[in-house]
Amino acid sequence: MLVFQTKNELKSYLNSIKSDAKKVGMVPTMGALHQGHASLVARAISENEITVVSIFVNPTQFNNQEDLLKYPQTFEKDSELLELLSKDIIIFAPSVGEMYSTEVTSKKYDFQGLDKVMEGAFREGHFDGVGTIVESLLLTVAPDKAYFGEKDFQQLQIIKKLVALQNIPVEIIGCPILREPNGLAMSSRNERLNRELRREAGFIYETLKTISTKFADQSIESIMEWATAQFQAHPQLRLEYLQISDEETLNPIGSKKENKKYRAFIAVFADGVRLIDNIALN
Ligand code: PAJ
Repeated sequence: MLVFQTKNELKSYLNSIKSDAKKVGMVPTMGALHQGHASLVARAISENEITVVSIFVNPTQFNNQEDLLKYPQTFEKDSELLELLSKDIIIFAPSVGEMYSTEVTSKKYDFQGLDKVMEGAFREGHFDGVGTIVESLLLTVAPDKAYFGEKDFQQLQIIKKLVALQNIPVEIIGCPILREPNGLAMSSRNERLNRELRREAGFIYETLKTISTKFADQSIESIMEWATAQFQAHPQLRLEYLQISDEETLNPIGSKKENKKYRAFIAVFADGVRLIDNIALN
């Protein structure tokens, strides 16, 4: 498996092997890889001749320094997991200095409101940080397709907006959420939960599934009331937000309209660990 640490070395290697017949797929990650990441990489491998996985813990998307410092860095384990998927994967693992030469700051984007709700409202500057690094990674690798998980559905919509705004010629592919056996969405942060809390956190997906059943015949208001009360009965899981939104605009809705797709989004704190999840409602 090849590992590159600089943009120039990666670019010149890719230029030497790329051709019209060889499609390039890219999976951007922050490492601490699990089966959720692996599902994206497997899809990239199945649809492209060349697959690049980036591993970079991007400082500008963390609004909380403690979260950044605690973010697991497990490069050896990550490369072993990737090697099991294919020995031909190209890993790009740059340093902070390589990605942010002089100043570790974000560009400012106008994501047309997509960044003003949910993760954007609770994590100041988060999506400018994501946009800055993803734009730079996509320009470096110039993939035909790039793969992102629906686990971070708001991020997925923002990246689609980013490539349209910046005219980056790449197809953005959304991939389904992989879950632990109890329904908890797989996440690098799950490792920080103790065993009891990790079991308890299956309740988040249980609630989302019930919301999706109720969505067929109950009002948004009564669903929200019901779900909020559910969390009050589970004080180990502190609800940060629960929002039922239009999938396109991500804005919260008061009532349903025909021909629109809706999703429920949730963020929960479990003993200081922030967990997010979402579910399609129709
Ligand atoms: P990271 O959290 O490492 O996630 C990398 C990719 O894996 C994202 O597209 C994310 O949605 C996807 N993913 C994570 N958990 C998943 C799961 N359980 N099922 C399916 N896909 C899952 O998201 C980031 O990194 C960063 O913001 C990044 C885009 C790399 C920019 O720094």
